[in-house]
Amino acid sequence: MSGGYNVQLMKRALNDCLPSIYADPALYDLVHAEGTDDEVWLLTHLAKQHGCGIKTALEPACGTGRYLAGLLRRGWTVAGYDLSSGMLEFTRRRLAGWGKRVKLARGGMAAYRPSRRFGLIFNVLSTFRHLMSEREALTHLKLMAGALEPEGIFVLGLDLSIYGQDEPDEEVWECRQGGRKAKHVVMSIPAEPGTRRERIINFVTTPKGKRETVLESSYDLRSYSAAELSELIGKSPLRIEAVYGYDGRPAILDGPERALWLVLKTR
Ligand SMILES: C[S@@+](CC[C@H](N)C(=O)[O-])C[C@H]1O[C@@H](n2cnc3c(N)ncnc32)[C@H](O)[C@@H]1O
Repeated sequence: MSGGYNVQLMKRALNDCLPSIYADPALYDLVHAEGTDDEVWLLTHLAKQHGCGIKTALEPACGTGRYLAGLLRRGWTVAGYDLSSGMLEFTRRRLAGWGKRVKLARGGMAAYRPSRRFGLIFNVLSTFRHLMSEREALTHLKLMAGALEPEGIFVLGLDLSIYGQDEPDEEVWECRQGGRKAKHVVMSIPAEPGTRRERIINFVTTPKGKRETVLESSYDLRSYSAAELSELIGKSPLRIEAVYGYDGRPAILDGPERALWLVLKTR
């Protein structure tokens, strides 16, 4: 890869103690835009199938608010929170026209206690795996359970591990949005049995005049086998109502499909 690193962005991310890919919300949004509408549709579909009919949604670690924007267009009232001040600033600007139907706050997944209840809460894209200990993960599940309307649903989307079988992986995709383009390479180094740490390495390359800028970002995510996830949920006030693949097809927790959306409800 040619070009220089964006040192400013790296410094900003370090200040927030977050991976540097989160320090450029517009770039994050560009590389994740594809498929967002389909996922928003799937969230609303799951809420219809399994939920309580109340069109209020909360997204912990909401990032750039891309899902919240889609839900607002579909008539929902939304709330989101995130640790990153840069992400929140971007989301505030993006959702500024929606007035009282949006509430945003700065907060951590293992600390922020919503002051009201929601028909739908969702935490997808393995974001939950940023919580690096069992205690933090369980705290998040408890906080979310406490913020669900009766019969409301919590959609938890994450990739599962099979220790000893997972191979290092690399995905490459080109993204375009509103005149901007980027190439995104994501590599993952599987968790060793016992470490509970999967290494993610991102390179986002964007053209800058005749040169290219490369944003490199490496971080660990906590890994979960099907059994580890099931055990964690068993310790929480939540139960598994249904399991789907990312494509919306019914799946099972310890089946062949590893990228799952779990529909959770309070017991
Ligand atoms: C993979 S992005 C997901 C953003 C958004 N949910 C989406 O799917 O596009 C992860 C987000 O989690 C935020 N984040 C990471 N750790 C967090 C924590 N402990 N509490 C709250 N937000 C966190 C980051 O700032 C970033 O916006």
